[in-house]
Amino acid sequence: MTGRKLVAVSAGLSQPSSTRLLADQLAAATGAEASRLGIQLSTSAVDLRDHAHDLTNHLLTGFPSAQLKPIIDAVAAADGLIAVTPIFNASYSGLFKLFFDVIGDTALVDKPVLIGATGGTARHSLALEHALRPMFAYLRAVVVPTAVFAAPEDWAGGGGRGGSGAGAAAGGGAAAGGGAAAGGALRGRIQRAARELAGQINLREPATAPDPFALSTSFEELLAGD
Ligand SMILES: Cc1cc2nc3c(=O)[nH]c(=O)nc-3n(C[C@H](O)[C@H](O)[C@H](O)COP(=O)(O)O)c2cc1C
Repeated sequence: MTGRKLVAVSAGLSQPSSTRLLADQLAAATGAEASRLGIQLSTSAVDLRDHAHDLTNHLLTGFPSAQLKPIIDAVAAADGLIAVTPIFNASYSGLFKLFFDVIGDTALVDKPVLIGATGGTARHSLALEHALRPMFAYLRAVVVPTAVFAAPEDWAGGGGRGGSGAGAAAGGGAAAGGGAAAGGALRGRIQRAARELAGQINLREPATAPDPFALSTSFEELLAGD
């Protein structure tokens, strides 16, 4: 088995958080799909609420704190990324956007990304398509076709009505308690998205962390003083 790294970023604010729960289930399903492909995924979970102050300071100063830097480096060096946000006012939350505003515009180039969201109403599931997917396209990430939305009725009730529109896995079901299980329709979409993410990771060479000391200017240009 080859070893690869997966990072699951969650922007949920509640404790327990349905957003973190969805991120965990997506990560577990991706690990299972990857192992069927002969890949051993080591997963790390990041709760952005723990870094909210550091993220604001990074935006204001231009420098990450000692606590935040390893998180940003881990995402940049990951073979795959799961990014899950609660829907706030029909879009991603401010905290979620803040993280991807400070991460650097080359950190996600060609990186396989699975996007997900939780919300109070399945009517907002397409925020995945009109807000998250364009942002990751701008960052030149490779977003898998299935995006996973979970609304309250998707959890535990077992059935989620979950219309799956063009790519977006809609469902109802809001916040569940800590150990809630995904209903059948949501579970199916989690598996489909996980299979897509594992497949994209399998297509690529192991990721390497970007070299922070790499020269963006050649020696010739430096000597010329331009
Ligand atoms: C300020 C705010 C705005 C929200 N706006 C929406 C919304 O526009 N659409 C929606 O479906 N849910 C909305 N919600 C509900 C949250 O998306 C939902 O409760 C989410 O699953 C919470 O995630 P968490 O349990 O991880 O904190 C909003 C919640 C808050 C606090």
